[in-house]
Amino acid sequence: MTAASLIPFFSLIAISLLRAGGADPCSGRYIFIQHLPPRFNRDLLADCAAYPVWQDFCPYKANLGLGPKTHNGTSSWFRTDPYLLEPLFHARMYQYPCLTPDPDLASAVFLPYYASLHSLPFLFGPDQNYSIAHGLDLARLLSDSSVYRRRHGHDYFFVASRTALDFSRPLDSRPDAWGTSLLELPAFFNFTVLVTESRAWPWQEHAVPYPTSFHPSTLSHLHTWLRRVRRSPRPTLMLFAGGATMSPNGPPNIHRSILSQCASTDESICSIADCSRSACDHDPGRYMRPMLRARFCLQPPSDTPTRRSTFDGMIAGCIPVFFEDRSAKSQYDWHMRPEEYREFSVFIAKDEVVWGGLNISRVLMGIGDEEVRRMREKVIEMIPSIIYRGHRSSKSLREEVKDAFDLAVEGVIRKIKHRISNLGVD
Ligand SMILES: *[C@@H]1O[C@H](CO)[C@@H](O)[C@H](O)[C@H]1NC(C)=O
Ligand SMILES: *[C@@H]1O[C@H](CO)[C@@H](O)[C@H](O)[C@H]1NC(C)=O
Ligand SMILES: *[C@@H]1O[C@H](CO)[C@@H](O)[C@H](O)[C@H]1NC(C)=O
Ligand SMILES: *[C@@H]1O[C@H](CO)[C@@H](O)[C@H](O)[C@H]1NC(C)=O
Repeated sequence: MTAASLIPFFSLIAISLLRAGGADPCSGRYIFIQHLPPRFNRDLLADCAAYPVWQDFCPYKANLGLGPKTHNGTSSWFRTDPYLLEPLFHARMYQYPCLTPDPDLASAVFLPYYASLHSLPFLFGPDQNYSIAHGLDLARLLSDSSVYRRRHGHDYFFVASRTALDFSRPLDSRPDAWGTSLLELPAFFNFTVLVTESRAWPWQEHAVPYPTSFHPSTLSHLHTWLRRVRRSPRPTLMLFAGGATMSPNGPPNIHRSILSQCASTDESICSIADCSRSACDHDPGRYMRPMLRARFCLQPPSDTPTRRSTFDGMIAGCIPVFFEDRSAKSQYDWHMRPEEYREFSVFIAKDEVVWGGLNISRVLMGIGDEEVRRMREKVIEMIPSIIYRGHRSSKSLREEVKDAFDLAVEGVIRKIKHRISNLGVD
């Protein structure tokens, strides 16, 4: 051991002794934020108009990633773009009560890297044919860091607000294959990456809720909304919010079955919030109003098994109907406990609908009013833990409610501790 490496060691002892008297509420949950050059975060926001093939996200970076308010009178509703979870999470990290400037004290190291924004040139832009290069410059930078080397990266985490599949392209695949190889790079293999959808057998990543448009910043705004959700009349049995048109001769799938079953019945049984051509993307009123009026919200897989709509619907008190476990149950266990799905959601296997002709509305009509009320109450109870609260939240909201961010950070710390003790890399 060199003299230089002893210094942090002694300061660690000193701080522990100092704190030995009273219980330190941050003990075991300290996080160190490793500084990165702005080209890995801030500068990427400045490039917001550079990828027209995706979209111009400039308007949505307002309010530290929450987006612009939906209208002037509101303090809780924003036009939030789910791809901007990275700056949103970064801003919240600065408010985390147990940050430490001393990496030796930290149980985890947060890397303020905007991974999905950094992937845009590789996914949609000029670097498409070089997408195995995504992350190499960051890996090079980290390889010089003693904090990174001390535990081989096992205590690091960052956010990548896309599905993990977008970053799992095998290193030896053809140049035009989809995705980047960020998660395949050895340098990040030991990291914990927070994504909005994980793979079937994740090692590196863990899924966290998509950000919705609701970001209350006081306890009373939250409670006012919960009361509204509880009292809302719900004349519609089931709602589907999503693409409402399909090419006439595509293969059968659950999305198609839902549209055709919906067309065969009246509005009070099945209604559709038409989100075709991205109509709903930054306009929460278009789907939140119908969701408030429906008892059940259908959440079929489409291009990806998960959808942001699952969380929008729950925030409206609309009971989710899932058609496969990968849509939520096998994803978000830090936020929604797998053993509780029966209490707040309905599961209908998609094959029974697509191939067996099962009538979804008949299944849902068979659930008694009292049971529906109980399930909805459970959904409402879960709302605080799946929202990302506003950035300037009141003390009482911060202290009384654990939101999606708080639960994600707790989950990360648990996961990292578990791994470090299993591998003995401490
Ligand atoms: C909100 O208020 C600002 C300033 O008062 C005004 O310029 C803007 O047009 C208003 N926006 C809406 C959507 O009403
Ligand atoms: C990527 O490579 C393909 C095939 O070689 C080529 O047709 C395409 O123009 C290249 N794309 C870019 C953005 O350079
Ligand atoms: C990842 O962790 C394993 C086990 O601790 C270690 O052998 C490996 O070198 C680590 N990878 C990197 C790139 O540090
Ligand atoms: C499904 O059941 C509902 C309610 O009984 C009925 O209105 C609808 O026509 C049925 N749909 C099909 C495709 O059989």
